[in-house]
Amino acid sequence: MSSSFVSKRIFSVTILAMVAMQLSCVESVLSLNQTNEYLHHICLNRQGTYKSGGKYERDLNNLIPMISISVLGNVVVFSGDNAAYVKLQCRGDSSTSKCRTCLDTAFSEIRRRCPNNRGRIIWYDNCVLTILTFYTYAEIDYQNHFYISNAKDVSGDTKSFNEKTRALLHRLMEKASSKENVPSKKNYLYATGEESLGKMRLYGMVQCTQDLSIKNCSVCLNWILAKLPKCCNGKQGGRFLSTSCNFRYELYPFVKLTTI
Ligand SMILES: *[C@@H]1O[C@H](CO)[C@@H](O)[C@H](O)[C@H]1NC(C)=O
Ligand SMILES: *[C@@H]1O[C@H](CO)[C@@H](O)[C@H](O)[C@H]1NC(C)=O
Repeated sequence: MSSSFVSKRIFSVTILAMVAMQLSCVESVLSLNQTNEYLHHICLNRQGTYKSGGKYERDLNNLIPMISISVLGNVVVFSGDNAAYVKLQCRGDSSTSKCRTCLDTAFSEIRRRCPNNRGRIIWYDNCVLTILTFYTYAEIDYQNHFYISNAKDVSGDTKSFNEKTRALLHRLMEKASSKENVPSKKNYLYATGEESLGKMRLYGMVQCTQDLSIKNCSVCLNWILAKLPKCCNGKQGGRFLSTSCNFRYELYPFVKLTTI
């Protein structure tokens, strides 16, 4: 952090660059279908706006490139009035460079999509970037969420497919929020897995942001898993995303599977 930047008085920024990175543990990446699609954004109009070309904008623009991707749960606090709280979560299988690229894309895109909004959120396949005017560390965000389902329906026994999907995601939830997890370890609040379904394979992933406690990760995942029937009934794939936790399942490999 440059000291000239830190010494600016009026502006205050807290960054939680929460990046769960899997350091090794990569299984087969054979037919992995990896993209970084834009998914959704929300402009939080109630949090007000800032002036173009003003100090808030300049400071935020200077700050984003300084977010340290390599430090897990990194928190940087600037003191002052005009606070911006920035939270970044990359998907658990993102490399440092992929996470950085996602952050840069997300920041430039959210400026275009929510010009001058102080509160704004944008989701991509590989990351979610949240910029707010207040501090939400360790809290579950129940307000900002959405789901996407695969357009294709499963053929055959829908009820059994739904049950297997629920069981896989539930198992991953328990893995991600297991008491044995500690913040510095890989797979903290993150889990991937697969299951065979006759001739097909089902792939799943769950993740919470790194500021949540293990307990709250499980609370968050329980909350979104309860949305499964609404979002994904009989669908070949689906995901539910908030700014605190998310899940996804598909019948094709969309994530690097970890081997524990
Ligand atoms: C990759 O994803 C696209 C879009 O979801 C799909 O049409 C395509 O078949 C996938 N490819 C593989 C190899 O799974
Ligand atoms: C758990 O989440 C609630 C609701 O967001 C929050 O008020 C509480 O402080 C969190 N607990 C811990 C231990 O982080």
